[in-house]
Amino acid sequence: MKKTINLSLSEIPEIAAQVAKNLDGGEVFALIGPLGSGKTTFTQSLGKHLEIRQKITSPTFTLLNCMPAKLKKNKKKIAFYHLDLYRTKNFAEAKALGLTEFWGKTHTVTLIEWADRIRRHLPKKTIIINFKGQ
Ligand SMILES: Nc1ncnc2c1ncn2[C@@H]1O[C@H](COP(=O)(O)OP(=O)(O)OP(=O)(O)O)[C@@H](O)[C@H]1O
Ligand SMILES: [Mg+2]
Repeated sequence: MKKTINLSLSEIPEIAAQVAKNLDGGEVFALIGPLGSGKTTFTQSLGKHLEIRQKITSPTFTLLNCMPAKLKKNKKKIAFYHLDLYRTKNFAEAKALGLTEFWGKTHTVTLIEWADRIRRHLPKKTIIINFKGQ
């Protein structure tokens, strides 16, 4: 069964900190909610806890960003993948980014904004976060 979390903007810092503490590697997060509801804010907040130094911005045009990160729990170095599928029309477009080759792998953590675009293709263990905005 897919795990679902519902979040308002004010809850993001606390939940991101909790999520960061528990990551083992291999997690896939589907970030779902309207424009400006906090999907990128959550990604930035989580990234800070994983020692990502660069500024995380929404990959609106590149569709995908990949940054080196470090997990809190086991100090493992991982690749932090951040996708924005707002402009994506179908799963083939997402697949062309290599998504299915890296998501779920233990050396990666993947966050997908607008994952509802590919909802029925998401891995079984995907953690769904619904953003409510204010
Ligand atoms: N606690 C808070 N209270 C009010 N506003 C907040 C709070 N935290 C973040 N914000 C603001 O809410 C907005 C959330 O935007 P964000 O880019 O994260 O949304 P998004 O879901 O990624 O949107 P998009 O679909 O355009 O990618 C930002 O302008 C941010 O500054
Ligand atoms: Mg965004």
